[in-house]
Amino acid sequence: MNQRFDTILKSGTVVNQDGEAIRDIGISNGRIAAIGGLGQASAAETIDCKGLHILPGVIDTQVHFREPGLTQKEDLETGSRSAVMGGVTAVFEMPNTDPLTVTEATFSDKIKRAHHRMHCDFAFFIGGTRDNVADLPELERAPGCAGVKVFIGSSTGALLVEDDESLRRIFAVIKRRAAFHAEDEYRLNERKSLRIEGDPRSHPVWRDETAALMATQRLVNIARESGKRIHVLHISTKQEIDYLRDHKDVASCEATPHHLTLVAPECYERLGTHAQMNPPVRSADHRDRIWYGIEQGIIDVLGSDHAPHTLEEKAKTYPASPSGMTGVQTLVPVMLDHVNAGRLSLARFVDLSSAGPARLYNITTKGRIAAGYDADFTVVDLKRSETITNKWVASKAGWTPYDGMRVTGWPVGTFVRGKRVMWQGELTTPSTGEPVRFLETLTA
Ligand code: DOR
Repeated sequence: MNQRFDTILKSGTVVNQDGEAIRDIGISNGRIAAIGGLGQASAAETIDCKGLHILPGVIDTQVHFREPGLTQKEDLETGSRSAVMGGVTAVFEMPNTDPLTVTEATFSDKIKRAHHRMHCDFAFFIGGTRDNVADLPELERAPGCAGVKVFIGSSTGALLVEDDESLRRIFAVIKRRAAFHAEDEYRLNERKSLRIEGDPRSHPVWRDETAALMATQRLVNIARESGKRIHVLHISTKQEIDYLRDHKDVASCEATPHHLTLVAPECYERLGTHAQMNPPVRSADHRDRIWYGIEQGIIDVLGSDHAPHTLEEKAKTYPASPSGMTGVQTLVPVMLDHVNAGRLSLARFVDLSSAGPARLYNITTKGRIAAGYDADFTVVDLKRSETITNKWVASKAGWTPYDGMRVTGWPVGTFVRGKRVMWQGELTTPSTGEPVRFLETLTA
């Protein structure tokens, strides 16, 4: 009997848990129905993928999409448009919006705003605060929740829990792995005078490597004490790489493309405040050790930390300028360029951007190309050379620190639950974004 599918992706090089091979993928009802030689099968639509690599959908586990409240910078529609234009099929969005995402009402408001308005699938973090501790066990299990996020050093927005006692209270009640912005607030406050007006090169001097390491060490200690697991976001120092290698039983961690690609002081001299980010981009020895963390398997996931601010806001004189840069759309091309340069394998990229998120966050039916899983794919042309430009960036902010950068390796297609959302640089389907499902949030 001939099989029939909704869609067949024909003759792409599928990069999968069992290696790389030219295969067909049959899709039915948004799920992967079969993988292999489907020459005898028929489908409503067949898409020729010859010469292209089909990766499991890239999941960006750290973005700031600014809605509600800061929508001059970004909103859920524009941020997710930028995501799918860059080959990203799902995002985890951060709680430092206005109002903050710290209650049932603000959380369900985000889900409502996102549903079928976002172009990719989505989950939202709940911000952990001193005031919502009692509600966290319920909130972290809400469908569409990626877990609890805590800023222990202040960045954009009002979220901050800087002291160990309050952190202990949060750890005591939550069950899921929580994510942390790890910079020690006390040290940041002590060192504020080291900022030099008009000179963003002083940003990593102020927010130094010790501030990051101290915070990460405090978190690991409290996690151990309370028998909980933590995820340390955007690792920026060589010291944290070496420290976390010895604490993998309780701590997972993330690297960002900018900490792997940009280097101080050159990036501040060339890009000014556009390179200003928390935690900061640092010198080459830190960047090289984060690459070592990629090579050694210490880093679990990649996240873009897409943190858009308008050009006007970024034009303020340092340190009045806000920290953050766009990144969701450039994650795939920048990292594929690193693949082509031999800095990581394509298999390791898939491990960091699909399998890793699924493993850490217990995502159901995403993160691998397997029968029964969501038909989420990032289709890439590994040989294509392109120049990244501000014009290409669909984010409302309209700029990227990589403007003018020539890369080899380009996202040419984005599939979300079987729908071809982006193809060859065009949006091809109206928004159908739905919540990512997690083991801990399944209701039925
Ligand atoms: O530079 C940053 N900007 N780091 C963060 O952690 C927050 C982000 C933002 O929201 O602007």
